[in-house]
Amino acid sequence: MNFKEELKEYTSYAEAVLKSYMPECTGYQKTVLDAMNYSVNAGGKRLRPIMLCAAYKMFGGGGTIVEPFMAAIEMIHSYSLIHDDMPELDNDSLRRGMPTTHVRYGADQALLAGDGLLNLAYETALKSFDIARGADRERCIAAVRVLANNAGIYGMVGGQCLDVEADKKRRDLTEEEILFVYENKTAALIEAALKTGAILGGADDRQTATMEKAGSALGIAFQLQDDILDVYGSEKELGKPIGSDERNGKKTYLSYLGIEKAEKEQERLSLEASAMIEEMSGEGNEAGAFLKELFEVLVKRKR
Ligand code: IPE
Ligand code: IPE
Ligand code: MG
Ligand code: MG
Ligand code: MG
Repeated sequence: MNFKEELKEYTSYAEAVLKSYMPECTGYQKTVLDAMNYSVNAGGKRLRPIMLCAAYKMFGGGGTIVEPFMAAIEMIHSYSLIHDDMPELDNDSLRRGMPTTHVRYGADQALLAGDGLLNLAYETALKSFDIARGADRERCIAAVRVLANNAGIYGMVGGQCLDVEADKKRRDLTEEEILFVYENKTAALIEAALKTGAILGGADDRQTATMEKAGSALGIAFQLQDDILDVYGSEKELGKPIGSDERNGKKTYLSYLGIEKAEKEQERLSLEASAMIEEMSGEGNEAGAFLKELFEVLVKRKR
């Protein structure tokens, strides 16, 4: 199978797993359930569950304990996007080629849909305990810890906090602060995907720490590309508005470095991340080779 076919297979698997954990839209809370499903079903590349699954396989995982975590991390990602698009944050009205959740359902239900998805993520991750036996149970505990930590104030939420302070109403961030934002708002969830996958697959502490480092490098390169696409991309291909950062008066790492240096830095970081994967997975590890190639295409993506 070539990389493209493999990616397709991973994506379909991630979609199916996610779907199986999404609730039915019935009951008096139907509106919020509709909004949650709307956001999740709008599409998206499903990169975090794909990376999580590939990392699991890379360390020899072959069971289903990984599935609740795949769904959970995409729920957290989707919630972060719902809130990120709201007028109080980035004020964007297009996401994944569709009207954003607050535009479609109103700010009240969008806020609640984010809350709903965040809670559902942990309810879902904890379902891994229904399947796990023996050593896998300890691994599930460790994986929930990583997920919760990296999604929270010492991860994604922390990064978003400083990111919104870079808004035109406030101040420009220093280079160190911008890197804090990237490391947390974006890299933290990518690190969580690689780390939880590795932990569940049986990686030891040293290997898990290396996965975290690879996730950090890749995450920063990934956000740099997001910022590049925000300036040079096409709204049609991206499925989200371009010029959002400028509209919000946001100084990004791209505006700090300039396009030439940004592209060089991106390449350096992605090579660093792939080298770590290569070193750990060794020859003949299919999932490792897939992850490495995924890293390389991600920093050149158009959407
Ligand atoms: C968008 O993430 C938000 C960032 C962290 C840059 P993705 O580019 O993974 O978005 P989807 O899930 O594919 O829509
Ligand atoms: C996204 O950063 C980070 C999140 C945690 C959602 P951006 O605000 O640049 O992401 P997009 O461009 O809206 O997807
Ligand atoms: Mg934002
Ligand atoms: Mg945004
Ligand atoms: Mg962006």
